[in-house]
Amino acid sequence: MMVKIAIMGYGVVGSGVGEVLRVHIDSIARRAKEEIRIKYILDLRDFPDSPFADRFVKDFDIILNDPEVQIVAEVMGGLHPAFEYVKACLENGKSVVTSNKELVAAKGAELLAIAQKNNLNFLFEASVGGGIPIIRPISQCLAANDVIGIAGILNGTTNFILTKMIREQMTFEDALALAQKLGYAERNPAADIEGHDACRKICILASLAFGRHVYPGQVHTEGIENLTLADVDYAESWGGVIKLIGRVKMLESGKIQIICCPMFIDRESQLANVDDVFNGILVRGDATGDVVFYGKGAGKLPTASAVVADIIDCVKHIKARKYLFWEDGSPDYVEDYLEDVLPMYVRATAENASVALGTADALFGGVQQLSRKDAPRNELAFVTKEMKEKDIREKLEQLSRMGVKVETTVRVADL
Ligand code: HSE
Repeated sequence: MMVKIAIMGYGVVGSGVGEVLRVHIDSIARRAKEEIRIKYILDLRDFPDSPFADRFVKDFDIILNDPEVQIVAEVMGGLHPAFEYVKACLENGKSVVTSNKELVAAKGAELLAIAQKNNLNFLFEASVGGGIPIIRPISQCLAANDVIGIAGILNGTTNFILTKMIREQMTFEDALALAQKLGYAERNPAADIEGHDACRKICILASLAFGRHVYPGQVHTEGIENLTLADVDYAESWGGVIKLIGRVKMLESGKIQIICCPMFIDRESQLANVDDVFNGILVRGDATGDVVFYGKGAGKLPTASAVVADIIDCVKHIKARKYLFWEDGSPDYVEDYLEDVLPMYVRATAENASVALGTADALFGGVQQLSRKDAPRNELAFVTKEMKEKDIREKLEQLSRMGVKVETTVRVADL
């Protein structure tokens, strides 16, 4: 028997999917118990030198209207036309696997419902953590737990850049160029740098773990674009590192607290040593305690590995559905991030830094002063006590009115 599939998009991930399927053709056939044959590859470009040169099509309808195609891998990225294509495939009897986090984060509940209605599968293991198994572990292996919270380094590009800045004093621009060359970054790397990619991924994990869709627009998101080597040095003197973190926790009220932003992470944390393109995801279950997933979070073959595993799973469940589902979201499900209680790192400048530090100390009821080598005379840096972010922001406003210029703030994580 043979199962015919189509790949939509022949970029970094799409070409990786082709390569993995071609190189591992025999072992995959053994595991899937069927031979998997790529019938079409959809891309607007020509690839005359590809081993699949005869399979390329430019018209989506060829795939949609071919009843032989049972599974479609969407690896085009972007919301449109990926959403319309995936929806049409699911409505036309084809299971879909995707690596597209933007699509799943925006439309997951809707597409899962369509898949369920049509008794098909919509799988997206590659959408979070690249090659790291995380969707199945949360939906299957940890199913006996109530998940209390999840925190993760979810973007390979920014982790790569931060690592290069911390370890090699490489400039932001050079590190980004290298990440792009290695195929880690999004087509528009602003999605990486500004935190949107990590935000989409924590939305997917939150939706999966708690059963209700969280939309990226509901999540306060900050990127790494305002961080400097000074902040990296202060983090070190505090006893940790700065990482871009996506974090969600379930509150007693039944709402969730969710955020995506750079955070100070204690050197002892399991996430502190997740470097380069690696991702690390900590899932806190009520029965398991902390479980940490670690591996390459971006790149051609790691991501392709997860896509192909989903294809194999679809082949094995061609007439059955794998249980994977969450409900639509609601506007009041997400708690205001300003209500969260945590300490805050602050770097500021003032004409007289030591007077400003004294003022901050009085205002916050005590702060932990930080120092670094060769700091300019007008610079001060400190970490506040744990308090509601809303109150911290109010006190920083007061400091500003007294002539202290707040340059950077970074939340301090308890991970
Ligand atoms: N641009 C993403 C990253 C790719 O750097 O993590 C993987 O989703």
